[in-house]
Amino acid sequence: MADKKNVAILGATGAVGTQMLECLTERDFPVGELKLLASARSAGKVVEWCGREVVIEEARPEAFEGMDIVLGAADDDIAKALLPEAVRRGATVVDNSHAFRLDEDVPLVVPEINPQDVAWNKGLISNPNCATIIGLVPTWPLHKLGHVSRMIVSTYQAASGAGVPGMRQLENELGAIGRGEELPEPTAFVDQLASNLIPQIGSEKFEGFTSEEMKLQNEGRKIMHLPELRVNCTCVRVPVLRSHSESITLEFEEPVSLEDAREALAAAPGVKLVDDLGADVAHDRYPMPLYTSDQDLIWVGRIRRDISNPEQGRGITFWCCGDQIRKGAATNAVQVAELLL
Ligand SMILES: NC(=O)c1ccc[n+]([C@@H]2O[C@H](COP(=O)([O-])OP(=O)(O)OC[C@H]3O[C@@H](n4cnc5c(N)ncnc54)[C@H](OP(=O)(O)O)[C@@H]3O)[C@@H](O)[C@H]2O)c1
Repeated sequence: MADKKNVAILGATGAVGTQMLECLTERDFPVGELKLLASARSAGKVVEWCGREVVIEEARPEAFEGMDIVLGAADDDIAKALLPEAVRRGATVVDNSHAFRLDEDVPLVVPEINPQDVAWNKGLISNPNCATIIGLVPTWPLHKLGHVSRMIVSTYQAASGAGVPGMRQLENELGAIGRGEELPEPTAFVDQLASNLIPQIGSEKFEGFTSEEMKLQNEGRKIMHLPELRVNCTCVRVPVLRSHSESITLEFEEPVSLEDAREALAAAPGVKLVDDLGADVAHDRYPMPLYTSDQDLIWVGRIRRDISNPEQGRGITFWCCGDQIRKGAATNAVQVAELLL
């Protein structure tokens, strides 16, 4: 067992922070002192963790004193205000917000793809966007076969991608529908999500694409070290509580056969192949978010050639689902922290 590390979680009461606590237990992370930090609203509440009673503290710069590792699970503005203070006090930070992801001196790491980038950190490492992690984990082994030059992606993103408030809105709407009541006003999304799809995540960023849609290209280039990668992405919020799904078409520089693609995916770390349209039960035929929730693998299926690409072997299409609170955020962060041990 490695030496114990003093660990703080910033945003410990949220969807990602709560999951981080579970991941630390599950992965037997060598935690010494544990600090749980959140807003003043949560300060004083007690959380039980591995037989310890931990009192939630209001997040302030002094709270990071003596911490070795800080896991960030708060929004961009809070991350920007507080996490440099943690670095200044000697901690190494793994942050889930967007605040530092594209900074030149901050590695952006998916352990299945670029673990080596942890080595050049200067105290701060960023976790990529959740849809980016879920799409890139299965893209990487295929890239190694034929060099990906272009990706066309549509995402189907769960309500919990917007944290506790996102889950609360969908649950309240489903509850009201179940009771035959009038639906409450939307609280987390721009409109009702139950019985609906919302084709906007984030704000307008570039030529009509949203900030979420541009993350896959901008973060994907940095993680895979592919500065020329082109990504055309549409992100849609769907009335699913947990687990993002994505339809992905890859264009390769070198031809890739479906057999080689399947073999590479079956052997890839972090991936589970579920690709059998003839299977008796639906969840053995292809990935679905209901079955990929609360586990860490990205399930991949519906693998087929891109019949719109005239060059044989140059295009492959697949479907994947993964739990974005776990592998898309908390698990990835704890895996990165393990690389630091
Ligand atoms: N949800 C996902 O699937 C997902 C995936 C990847 C990345 N992320 C990113 O991870 C971060 C956390 O997301 P989330 O979904 O867990 O959000 P969330 O459920 O809304 O949780 C937000 C957390 O931030 C805390 N907080 C709010 N104001 C604060 C303040 N002034 N000072 C200190 N802490 C404060 C909250 O504490 P209180 O409870 O006290 O308000 C809560 O613990 C965000 O940057 C998000 O973009 C989320």
